[in-house]
Amino acid sequence: MENNWSNEAFKGEVASGFHGKVGWASPSNIALVKYWGKKGKQIPQNPSISFALSECRTETFVTFEKSGSFGFSFFFEGQKEPAFGAKIEKFLVENQAFFPFINQLHLKVESRNTFPHSSGIASSASSMSAFVMCLLDIENQLIGKDIDLQKASYFSRLASGSAARSVYPKMALWGATNCYKGSSDEFAVSLENDIHPVFKTYRNSILIVSGETKAVSSRAGHALMEGNPYASARYAQAYDKIKSLLTALQSGDLDTFINITESEALQLHALMMCSNPSFILMKPNTLQIIEAVRDFRNETQIPLCFTLDAGPNVHLLYPENEAEKVENFIRNELVTCCNQGCWIADHVGDGPQKLL
Ligand code: PMV
Repeated sequence: MENNWSNEAFKGEVASGFHGKVGWASPSNIALVKYWGKKGKQIPQNPSISFALSECRTETFVTFEKSGSFGFSFFFEGQKEPAFGAKIEKFLVENQAFFPFINQLHLKVESRNTFPHSSGIASSASSMSAFVMCLLDIENQLIGKDIDLQKASYFSRLASGSAARSVYPKMALWGATNCYKGSSDEFAVSLENDIHPVFKTYRNSILIVSGETKAVSSRAGHALMEGNPYASARYAQAYDKIKSLLTALQSGDLDTFINITESEALQLHALMMCSNPSFILMKPNTLQIIEAVRDFRNETQIPLCFTLDAGPNVHLLYPENEAEKVENFIRNELVTCCNQGCWIADHVGDGPQKLL
């Protein structure tokens, strides 16, 4: 499916004196069924489903001003950040057919994350979606429309795959599947109205096992799937898991939710372990936490489970009404496995928020 977003782009002359400042906060998200492996232009090999977070987000401000040509500067937490700035600039240059007005603007981008630098939390989903929301906000001042979240998801995807899922509240599905009408490889869709209330307030406590930067970038990780001997079996299984997870999300079936979520986390790491070159991204404390979580669940029957991103930190997922017991368990038994005792109490959030 091709969209008509380049047709509706503002192609005219930007009025002289056009200037202003926009600001958006956009959350990180944590995938339950993972996106790991892509083809073509940021097209996922299988659909993925995620929770939007709340406390872990990027806040981005863009100051814009009419100028004779395209100008761009990028500051992260007050400092010039050439590497990340280059990523955004590349995205703008590649997509100038959709945003031709940028060739008449100078943009100053200022960004910060609400989560600690050394937390090892991937920030490309939150930062790229926050930037895209700002860009569409500027466009809207030229064309006089409200932000279309599907369009925001489409361009966030082009900037960083998983960012496609960060533009919606609660939960999102990215990737075409015949068990969800309207799903697409090109943008994510909101699952907010198709999930049981228990998931709308789900908790996500992030246990920071290591704050080191990632041993393998997600770009390299996706590429490694191309030679992975288990790739086709994994993609086929992911489609089945999406189908079962969508049903469980609707009915509030926590046993199925736990089963799929944990198996996906371990499969993501198993795939990395059997890639060539191979990566072991879990640390001894990651495994210690996983074992303790499973013992706690068996002993208490509290539906606490874990998932992992492409790193050693552990995301604990549990219903809001179990928060007190789970947080006591974290404080009493798990903080000793965390880097300097660091963990982040997060929960399912409401998607991007306009700041200015
Ligand atoms: O969006 P990327 O290219 O950074 O890839 C994200 C990959 C995982 O975080 C490991 C899984 C996911 O679906 O978010």
